[in-house]
Amino acid sequence: MSNPPSDADRPLADQLSSRPPDEASGPGDTRGSSVDQDEFQNTDSRAQLQAEGRGEAQLDSSKTPEPAPDYSHLPPSDRDWNIAERKVAGLFFLAVLGVLGFLVTFFAVEQEFGQPGNVYFTPLLGIFMTMALGGVGAGTVLWAKLLMVDEEAVQERHPFGSDPDERAATAKALRQGIEDTGLPRRKLLRRSLMLGAGSLALLPLPFLGFLGRFQHKERVLATTSWREGVRLIRQNGTPVKLGDLQIGGVESVFPDVEHGTLKADSPALLIRMRPEDLQLPAEQQEWAYQGHVVYSSICTHLGCPVKLYEQQTHNLLCPCHQSIFKASTGATVIFGPAARALPQLAISVDDEGYFVAGGDFAESIGPSYWERG
Ligand code: FES
Repeated sequence: MSNPPSDADRPLADQLSSRPPDEASGPGDTRGSSVDQDEFQNTDSRAQLQAEGRGEAQLDSSKTPEPAPDYSHLPPSDRDWNIAERKVAGLFFLAVLGVLGFLVTFFAVEQEFGQPGNVYFTPLLGIFMTMALGGVGAGTVLWAKLLMVDEEAVQERHPFGSDPDERAATAKALRQGIEDTGLPRRKLLRRSLMLGAGSLALLPLPFLGFLGRFQHKERVLATTSWREGVRLIRQNGTPVKLGDLQIGGVESVFPDVEHGTLKADSPALLIRMRPEDLQLPAEQQEWAYQGHVVYSSICTHLGCPVKLYEQQTHNLLCPCHQSIFKASTGATVIFGPAARALPQLAISVDDEGYFVAGGDFAESIGPSYWERG
């Protein structure tokens, strides 16, 4: 007759499954140890964390315990709290001043080139925008440094998707975080933050105004400042007279209108060559005057200035991507990526012998994408 197997002879899984639930799920087998059950449980970090009410996410005993929050830098008294709070609120109010200054500058300071106040326009916009964005940013940083708990947090990498316990722990931490910011209790802080951050929404408004400014101007991208009878002037403002240029000579010219030398779409090149060298298309022959021709100096590829003229070949070279235009044949493209000729300006001479434009360019100046659609 065989004896029944002793407890120790059975597999471990069988042993555990046959024990009462509290024993099988206990912290471990204490046989042969001088540590009794109560003492063992007291060394179990899981039990300790549960006793402290920490979240399930922190219960993994393999993780390094997180350092305790540091409260030592927080203001020691209500008075100090109020002082720190006012510093933060002051920065948020600074942001509001920045936004107001930006708006006032945009609408009140002269924006046109050449006007006396124009030199202040861009710097003031930059200063006030810095105040607006910097005020909110610096206020937030100071708030975190002075009034919030200093806590080092290590975020472990987890698989995507959190279990319900982790989500509950996160929600709890979020609520605690909001509580730590002081927002629920500190009215001044809350309102100044809302005012400062909310006022940033006004910053884009002036740019919408810019859109409105041009909406009724006809074909704003297709026209320049050149008009019939407008004189051709040099960069220094002096008008160009018939005979000023030698054959083979070239001159940068601008329309003699208000701020004409500053208009980005109007610079042109006046070139003189022998009349017999000109081989313009039939419809453009009248646009030249005694061997003088004028072309837009804005490249039709990507808008670089076309200023290099080779008098032997009558070639105009764009330095950006080496497009070459033949000035004698209507600035047609003979090399490079440009897709069309430089627009020609019709010219003649007024009663005093000065060159004048016969009108605007016949087609759009600059890169060809302006014409698409
Ligand atoms: S911009 Fe002139 S060739 Fe590209």
